Formats: sequence, C-alpha cells, structure tokens
Amino acid sequence: MHKITLIPGDGIGTEITAAMKKVVKEAGVDIIWEEFDAGESVLEEYGTPLPKHIIENIRENKLAIKGPITTPVGKGFRSVNVALRKELNLYANVRPIKTFEGIKSRYDNIDITIIRENTEDLYSGVEHKIGDYAGESIKIITRPACEKITQFACDYTKTNGYKRLSAVHKANIMKISDGLFLDVFNEVCENNKIYRKNANEDKDIYSDDVIVDAAAMNLVLNPEDFDVLVMPNLYGDILSDLCAGLVGGLGMVPSANIGEDCAVFEAVHGSAPQIAGKGIANPTAIIQSSIMMLRHIGEHDAAMKIENALRTIFKEGKVLTVDLGGDSSTEEFSNELCKIIRNS
Ligand code: NAI
Repeated sequence: MHKITLIPGDGIGTEITAAMKKVVKEAGVDIIWEEFDAGESVLEEYGTPLPKHIIENIRENKLAIKGPITTPVGKGFRSVNVALRKELNLYANVRPIKTFEGIKSRYDNIDITIIRENTEDLYSGVEHKIGDYAGESIKIITRPACEKITQFACDYTKTNGYKRLSAVHKANIMKISDGLFLDVFNEVCENNKIYRKNANEDKDIYSDDVIVDAAAMNLVLNPEDFDVLVMPNLYGDILSDLCAGLVGGLGMVPSANIGEDCAVFEAVHGSAPQIAGKGIANPTAIIQSSIMMLRHIGEHDAAMKIENALRTIFKEGKVLTVDLGGDSSTEEFSNELCKIIRNS
C-alpha cells in the first residue's frame, strides 16, 4: 500500500487525473491518494496558492503526482509549479519523449530525454522594474546546481543505456552564466568517464554540446540523432514542448521532478483552459507520468501493464482523443485502457 499526494490542479487537471487514478487502480496497485487543491481556488482561504500543508504532506509521503495549475500571465501569484520545485528542491526535471506506433507524427523511433535543471536560471524570480522604462530578470546559474544536474544526467544516460549526452547552452553569448554551465558539464562528464569523441571514432557513450538555437533546428531535422539532452531551466521548458510536437503533441509527454528526498510527477502540458470542462483532454501525459511514478516506487509490473495498454490503444487507433485525430472523450479513452489492462 502506497500513500501518494495528489494535486488534481485546475483546467483539464481534474479530468485527466481522474482518468489516471482509474487506470492505475485497474493495474492493481493499492494507493491511498491524499488529495489537495492548489492554485487560484485556495488563494482566498490560505492567502497563498501553495499552502504549507501540501508541502508538508509531500515531504511526509516523499511522492506526489499533480495535474497542471494555471499561472496568471504578467501579474498575480508566482507559478505554483515553480514554487513547488524550489520548495522541495526538485532539481531534476526528466522528460522522456518517445514515439508510439500508430500516433501520427513526423518521425518514427524518437527516443529522446530532456533533463532540465529545475531550480534556477531565469526562473529564480529575481526581477524588477526600472520605472516604466524597463524590466530586468536576472539569470542565475550556480556551480552546485550545474554539478547536480550533470551528475544526474550522467547517471541517467548510463542506467538507461543511452549513447550520447549533450549539453544545450548559449555560452557563446552568455559567457559567464551558460559558460559556467558548460564548464561544469565538461568537468562532471570527465569525472564520470563520459568523454567527447573525435571525428570517425565510435564510442559506446560520449558527451558533446550544442548551442540552443542549433539544437532547436537539429531536433526538428534529425531528432533521431539525439539521446539525452541536459540544459538550464528555460531552454528545457521550450525544447521539451518542441519535442512534444515531434511525438503527437503536448497531450503525450510525461515528466518527473526528482529531488534528493521527494519526487513529483506531472504532465509536461499546462491547464489547457480552452478545452477545460469539455471532457476531451488527452490523459496520456499524466498516465505516462504515473508509469514513471510506479517505476520509481518499484511497481514495475503495473507500470508495464499500463505501458502495454497504451501501446495497444495507439496501435489499434480506434479510441483516440481529439488532439490525436480521434473523437473519443477522456472517459472513453481511459475506459478502453482499463478494458485492455483487464483483458491482458
Ligand atoms: P497548455 O499546455 O495548457 O496548452 C497548449 C496547447 O496544447 C493548447 O492548445 C491546449 O489545448 C493543448 N493541450 C495541452 N494539453 C493537452 C491535453 N492533455 N490534451 C489535449 N490538448 C492539450 O499551455 P498554455 O496554454 O501555454 O498554458 C495554460 C496554463 O497552464 C497557463 O496558465 C500556464 O502557466 C499553465 N501551465 C502549467 C503547467 C504545470 O502545471 N506544470 C505547465 C505549463 C503551463
């Protein structure tokens, strides 16, 4: 029996987390979900969109899964998602991006993982106005955070049998901040015996670096060339949406926020206010996040059952949500997944 904190979130959050819970139950895992609201809906009652008792509950359970939470644009409270990552020091954001047979996309066989530094960069929230004339946001990159994220990326690359570990940066322009990120990346890779390769050399595992603009182009042109990409916060945010576009869209891509003590799993996408309440959101991303969570807690059989069910539903292509070219609702999709799991 596992106790897991669940934050359904807002927008499509309640719809997709309900679907996820149903599928995890069908896979046979006993979970006590400890559910909490966060965001706009609790602001008045608690004076904050992320009340302390939620943080305490996650610290106690060491594990949470959350739906998306809306962040007001240009004003209002700061992102609950960013606050949660900072508060729990969830320093690594892991985003595996893989193609499923049957899902229309520009490429087959994409298997890329983006590892995004999750605690600093332009997300540190250090910004101010200079009168009405200008705004300044400070980009903070520290050696300890670069060391931790690169070490995580080295371990991930080795453990998962990948070959290429690439740092993404803009150190040609931001020589001090991204320059530090790149220097530390090279040091930590050397310490882990993940060396650069020379032309024509074939190595089992190697490291290299790509400037972020070139990375964006190459990810679109030749995504199959990449394995694991590690990068500062902002580039990770942008490039993971780009990569989601390569495998069927935002409804597909899961993520794990990993810290030393806790882990919080969530879809990459946001609260999709345009389709909220219509019952048509694609719950795959949060269901895939639950697969990552189940593997994290050692429930490998259940994780495999759900993953196989997703493979089957996409291969058959009969029950698909609107974003994937189908006409099924969130509920019909999750019911079909449960049926496949039951019959497996
Ligand atoms: P979004 O990811 O919510 O939506 C972008 C596009 O993808 C929209 O067309 C939406 O309909 C579609 N989409 C997203 N998820 C989908 C799904 N599961 N099924 C079908 N279609 C889906 O991004 P947007 O519009 O930039 O952000 C909306 C709100 O979400 C903002 O307040 C933003 O701050 C917040 N957000 C929250 C995140 C989190 O809680 N981790 C992450 C990203 C954004």
